Amino acid sequence: MIALMGGMIWACGGDDTSNNSSSSSSNSSSSSKKVDGKKIFKTYCVACHGLYGDMEVNGAKDLNLSVLALEQRITIITNGKNLMTPFKGVLTEAQIEAVAQYTIDNFNKK
Ligand code: HEC
Repeated sequence: MIALMGGMIWACGGDDTSNNSSSSSSNSSSSSKKVDGKKIFKTYCVACHGLYGDMEVNGAKDLNLSVLALEQRITIITNGKNLMTPFKGVLTEAQIEAVAQYTIDNFNKK
């Protein structure tokens, strides 16, 4: 079994001050609870939009050409649009926002 333990273990109030235990979390990217929008995109979005956002399968818009604001992207991702499936219930709000932000940060480069 593989457990995702990044930042999940909180040492509660040990009173042992002698150990140098500052390096307990080795591989966390230390961005607290940030959701990885890129990972979500690769998992749920590439089937239609492609890795580079411009695959346009099933009539998907080229995300590089999208001029939508974050809020509008969140709405489309949440509720779907035409052939795009809604992700409400599939992704959490935080995940939807993260992947919407990812499409802004990573595409829109044309
Ligand atoms: C089943 C195929 C499909 C999947 C999966 C899909 N999309 Fe889409 N997406 C579309 C289609 C089709 C459109 C165009 C909708 C329209 O305007 O008719 C679209 C439009 C969009 C738009 C709006 C672009 C614009 O400027 O109008 C955004 C943003 C977007 N998708 C993001 C995502 C994200 C993020 C994911 C993954 C969470 C995703 N899509 C998954 C098919 C898909």
